[in-house]
Amino acid sequence: MSIVHPLPLDRTAVPAPARPRRTDRRRFRLATGALPELPPHRERVRRELAAYTSRVHLAELVREHGSPLFLLDTDRITTQLLRLRGALPHVAIHFATSALPHPAVLRAVHAFGASFAVASRGELDLLERQGIAVEGCLHTHPVKTVADITGAYLRGIRTFVIDSPSEIGKFAGLKSDDLGVLIRLSFPNPGVKSDPSPKFGVTPEDAPALVERCIASRLPVRGFTFHVGSQTTSAEPWRRAIAAALRLMHDLEARHDLRFDMLDIGGGFPVAYDEPVPPFAEIARGIRSALAAVPSNVRVIVEPGRFVAAPAMTLVTRVIGTNDRPDGRWHYLDQGLRGAYSNIPAEDVNALLFAAAELGVQPLGDDAAERATRRILTRTRVPVTLAGPTCDRVDVIARRTPLPPLADGDLLVSPMMGAYTWAATTGITGVAPTPVVVLPHG
Ligand SMILES: Cc1ncc(COP(=O)(O)O)c(C=O)c1O
Repeated sequence: MSIVHPLPLDRTAVPAPARPRRTDRRRFRLATGALPELPPHRERVRRELAAYTSRVHLAELVREHGSPLFLLDTDRITTQLLRLRGALPHVAIHFATSALPHPAVLRAVHAFGASFAVASRGELDLLERQGIAVEGCLHTHPVKTVADITGAYLRGIRTFVIDSPSEIGKFAGLKSDDLGVLIRLSFPNPGVKSDPSPKFGVTPEDAPALVERCIASRLPVRGFTFHVGSQTTSAEPWRRAIAAALRLMHDLEARHDLRFDMLDIGGGFPVAYDEPVPPFAEIARGIRSALAAVPSNVRVIVEPGRFVAAPAMTLVTRVIGTNDRPDGRWHYLDQGLRGAYSNIPAEDVNALLFAAAELGVQPLGDDAAERATRRILTRTRVPVTLAGPTCDRVDVIARRTPLPPLADGDLLVSPMMGAYTWAATTGITGVAPTPVVVLPHG
């Protein structure tokens, strides 16, 4: 369990850092201006991140809370939810809790008026601990124990996802008048980084038989759900999946005494890590045109995880050791693949990594001479390997990545680190979880 700093920071308690003299600032601009060009996307992210780290007083936060550190900005949760609502109006948002089950995030999603997609008892516990009523949540895990189902039902959940006949009998003891299931469909999407279709979902060809088994067992079927795969960068997979689900609904309603009322088009909306992704408005436009064919009695749902959570957390790490090895310079950081950077192996994410110096963040410590030396050093970038702090051989964050020269104690900053990072930290190597500082609004 990660350590949470629940209180907004009281900046008044932190002494303001001394303003650099005018000449220092001018020289600093010259130094960073002379850095070799970054690819356009990285350069755009660097500029935005430099402005952001200055606005949130990153150096002060690290001075107060240490490193590693996650900065959690719930305003960004709200911004992403607004983008979704604006681009997909009339679509109900159920935040995929597993992406970032942090209490402050759950409260922000709830305050916005969105609901939740949950996949475990623990997530329901967490929501209830925030005083959030869970009745309207969807239980989206296709495979559950009878205890999971009964427990969720007793808490008020009425819509569950299934994808196999073996799941049907688990609902046997429950009253079915307001209970219903969504059938999870699988649409292979090998082009995306994490395609869930090999693990979950029934093919559209086999779905009618599953629906018929539900009918025979008097388990009401409300509709269909699917997940086209995380980081899907075009509307096409949604368009195909929506069309296939609507065909199934139409055919099954024609054959049986059925009226479907729900279509859940899942998550999968992309965010830009070290490569740009198409504008969300463009993807949403394609999805909207596919949704135009949905009958008016059918409620459409999305379950975004990464799109909402990723921009909300910025990770700060620190160099704790350096070694010149036969293949070049290695820096060892205070977080790695078993912790805050767990999205790299698990999600195949190319995390963005910037040296604090290239963002204009003052190095820690008050030694003016040291700062001046660093400014000179930042005129170049050298390829370095970044490793995590564990003794685990595979704990390597990035190889031969170009960064301004680093020294022990220097900070690195990674934006877009909210999704499946803090939530997925294993703790198995004994490295403490990364604390989270919740930034004040504004
Ligand atoms: C059922 C379900 N819905 C939604 C999501 C969220 O997906 P994403 O983070 O790609 O938006 C997931 C992620 O694993 C999922 O399994």
